[in-house]
Amino acid sequence: MKFSIINGPNLNMLGIREPAIYGNTTYADLVALIHQAAKEEEVQVEILQSNHEGMLVDEIQRAYDKADGIIINPAAYTHTSIAILDALKAVALPAVEVHISNLNERESFRQISYAGQACFHTVMGQGIEGYRTAIKILKQKLLG
Ligand code: DQA
Repeated sequence: MKFSIINGPNLNMLGIREPAIYGNTTYADLVALIHQAAKEEEVQVEILQSNHEGMLVDEIQRAYDKADGIIINPAAYTHTSIAILDALKAVALPAVEVHISNLNERESFRQISYAGQACFHTVMGQGIEGYRTAIKILKQKLLG
């Protein structure tokens, strides 16, 4: 079972950006956690982070041929990108949306998720541990 894990803009700044919201762990810590969780769950992962919307769309499209499911944190593009929503709908792979912070407790402009409309589940407010949760949820979904 292979998952494409896609992270959007500024997530490479984890550990530096707004630690009160996103924590002190770095993007490298997040990548290590994902690899560890994937090993434990016996799934394969491919991880991409990009600050560019089109790169995220390209990666979603690439997942069509190479992955069984998608875990995506589109970051700020969550709230703006119909292109990412359309790409997720196009490939129609089971997808889980992840957010490190709890969007329900944040600004009103973060209350809309376009990408989330193409995801069967959303994990939020668990910090980077949310990616482990997402891997488990996606695996369960694929196992039926
Ligand atoms: C985020 C939440 C978004 O609103 C924000 O723009 C991000 C990160 C999260 O993981 O909590 O960059 O997706």
